[in-house]
Amino acid sequence: MSNFYVTTPIYYVNDVPHLGTAYTTIVADALRRFHLLIGDDTYMLTGTDEHGLKIERAAKEQGLAPKAFTDRISDRFREAWPKLDIAPNRFIRTTDADHEAFVVELWKKIASTGDLYKGSYEGWYCVGCEELKTEKELLQPGNLCAIHKTPVERVKEESYFFKLEKYQARLLDFYARYPAFIQPETRRNEVLSFVSGGLKDLSVSRTSFTWGIPVPGDPKHIMYVWFDALTNYRSALGSTDLTRFWAPQSKVVHLVGKDILRFHAVFWPAFLMAAGYRDEELPTTVFAHGFLTIDGEKMSKSLRNAVDPLKIAHELGSDVLRYHLLRAISFGQDGDFDHAAILERYNADLGKNLGNLLNRVLGLCGKYLEGKAPAVAIADLSSDIDKAFFNAREDAAQSIRTHWNQLRPDLALAETMALSSAANKYVDESAPWTLAKNDDKAGLARVLGALLETLSALSIMIAPAMPKKSVEMRTQLGLTSIDPAIGKNHWPFDFAPIPAGTTLAAGKPLFPTLDADAQKAVLEKLVPKKEAPQVEAPSTAEAAQKPADPAALAEPISYDQFTTVDLRVGLVKTCEKVPKKDKLLKLSVDVGEAEPRMIIAGLALTFQPDDLVGKKVVVVANLAPRDFGKGLVSHGMLLATGPSEALVLATVAGDAAPGSRLK
Ligand code: MSP
Repeated sequence: MSNFYVTTPIYYVNDVPHLGTAYTTIVADALRRFHLLIGDDTYMLTGTDEHGLKIERAAKEQGLAPKAFTDRISDRFREAWPKLDIAPNRFIRTTDADHEAFVVELWKKIASTGDLYKGSYEGWYCVGCEELKTEKELLQPGNLCAIHKTPVERVKEESYFFKLEKYQARLLDFYARYPAFIQPETRRNEVLSFVSGGLKDLSVSRTSFTWGIPVPGDPKHIMYVWFDALTNYRSALGSTDLTRFWAPQSKVVHLVGKDILRFHAVFWPAFLMAAGYRDEELPTTVFAHGFLTIDGEKMSKSLRNAVDPLKIAHELGSDVLRYHLLRAISFGQDGDFDHAAILERYNADLGKNLGNLLNRVLGLCGKYLEGKAPAVAIADLSSDIDKAFFNAREDAAQSIRTHWNQLRPDLALAETMALSSAANKYVDESAPWTLAKNDDKAGLARVLGALLETLSALSIMIAPAMPKKSVEMRTQLGLTSIDPAIGKNHWPFDFAPIPAGTTLAAGKPLFPTLDADAQKAVLEKLVPKKEAPQVEAPSTAEAAQKPADPAALAEPISYDQFTTVDLRVGLVKTCEKVPKKDKLLKLSVDVGEAEPRMIIAGLALTFQPDDLVGKKVVVVANLAPRDFGKGLVSHGMLLATGPSEALVLATVAGDAAPGSRLK
C-alpha cells in the first residue's frame, strides 16, 4: 500500500463552476477512487483561490465586500462537486485561517534565507492571468493578453522579488533527475526550454490593492496571489499526521490546465526549494491537461460559451457525464465538447455494450440457472474460445490498472469497454442457448459463471468513473457495493466468482436506450438556443429577437459598469460574404486606429455587402476578440435589433469621426 495525494487547481471565484473546471475535478476524483480500489491511502484536495486584484475588482463590480463576495462564489463550487459525485477530502479556501498562517510562515522561511528582496518593477500586467507579461507576449493591436484577449495594464510599483534566477540550474537538474515531474512529454519540453532560456527574478508582492495576505513586517505589500495560491497544496496538510500525504511518503500529483503549467512546474518547486525542501520532498508530478473547447474555442465565462455540468448531470446522471468526459478526452489534449456526442457515446458504449452485457447475461442466468450464480470451476478452459477470452480479460485487467496509474483515464476506460465487448463476443461464440439445448449443465455453469465473474470485475473497473452505476450493477449481480474496504486488494483481479447460489436480479437496463425522440428532447433541454443575429452574446441576441418589454429588461448596472463598455463610431470600409456561412459578413471597420479592424457579424440574412460600405455604425470596441477559425477573428461587435432576416442596424447620423466614443 502506498499514499496518493491528488490536487486540482484552486478555482478563481470570479467565475462559477463550468464544464472546464468540472473536468479537472472529475479526473482528480476518479483517480482518487481508483487509488482507493488498489488499496492506497488517498487524499484529494480542491478549493477556491480568493485573493488578488482580479477578485477585489469582481467583488467591487457586484457592490460587495471581497469576503462576502468570495463566500458566495466559493459556496457555488463547494456545492457543485457532490452533485457530480466528487468527494474531496478537503475543500480549501485561500481565506482559511490555517492556510493564511502557513503562507506567512513559508514567506518568512524564504525571507530568512535572503531569497526575497525589495525592488521596483515596471511592466504590463494581465489581471486575468494575475501575471506580468513581456511586450513580446502581447497581441497587437491593443496590447492584448494572448490568453484573455483583453488589454493589459501598465504598472509601476515597489515590490518584493523572489530570486528565481538563482534556481535555474537546480530546477534543470531536478527535471533531469525526476523525468516524471512534468507530464505529458510535450509540456515537459516546453518547460525545459523556457527554463533553459533563462529565468528572471519574480515580483511577489503588490502595493496597489489590499485584498490578500500582507507581507509580514511590511503590510502595505500584499503577497503575490500565485505565491499565496500555490502554497495551498502544502498548507492543506498542515503539520499534523496529514503530512504523510506529502513527498516522499506519498505520491503528490497536481492536475493543472496547460495555461497554468509554468506556475506549477517552475515557480512552485522553486519556492519550495527556497524554503528548504529537498528534491525528494517536491511534488511527484504536475500533469498539464488541455482545454475543453466549444467549436474550437476555450470554454470560459468571458467567452460566454461555458456549459453547465450540473444541467447535464441532472438530465443524464452524473455518471454519464463523468464517463463521457473521462473517456472522450485524451488526457493532456484539448477536447471539443459536443452535447450530441455524449448521447452517442451513451447509447454505444454504455447502452449497447456494457448495459447490454449485464442484461443478457442476467437474462440467460434467469432462463437456464433459475437466477442463481452457478458453482464454477475456473481452471476448466475447455475450448479455444474460453482460452482466448480468459487471456483477454487477464490482459485487460493489467492494462486498465496501468492506464489509471499513468494518469490516462481515457485509455483505461477504452480498455474497460473493450473487455465488455470481448465478453459480449464470448456470449455469442460460446452460445449458452446451444449448451442448454444439449443439456450441457457443466458447460452452462462454466460459461455463465465466467461471464458473471467478468461482470463483477467490470462493476469494480467502472467504479472510478461511474460510482453510482457500479453500485446499481453490483446490486443486480447480488453483490454489495464496493466500499473502499471491499475495494482494497480487489485489483489486480483474480476474477473471483460470484459465490454459488447468489440470487441474481432479473436484469433491468442499466443504461436504457435513448431513441431519436428521447435524444432530441434531451438536446432541447441542454443545448443553448441557436445563435444569434449578432454573432456575439446569445443573451443580447435573444433580447434582440423580442420586442422591448420593460419587465424583461436586464438587471440595472452602475454607471461605472456601463463605462467599461467601449462603444465607438465605426466607418465600414469593406464588406464581403463569408464562404459557407449563410449568416456571416466579414467587415473591415475604421474605429480611429492605425488600421481598420476585422469584424465578423451575423448580418448576411438581411444585408448585402454593398449595403453596408460607407455606413457609420456603433462598434463595441473592447469586446474580447472571437476566433471563428480559418483566419476569421472578430475584433468587436456591431449593434443591431430585430430578427436575423430583418435586422435594423444601429447607425450614427451627423459627422462624428470614426473612433469617437459613445457615452
Ligand atoms: N486560481 C488559478 C489556479 C491556482 S492553482 C494554485 C486559476 N484559476 S482558474 O479558475 O482560472 O482556472 C483553474 C483551472 O481551470 C486551470 O487549470 C484552467 O486551465 C482550468 N480551466 C479553465 N477553463 C477550462 C477549460 N475550458 N477546459 C479545461 N480546463 C479549464 O488559474
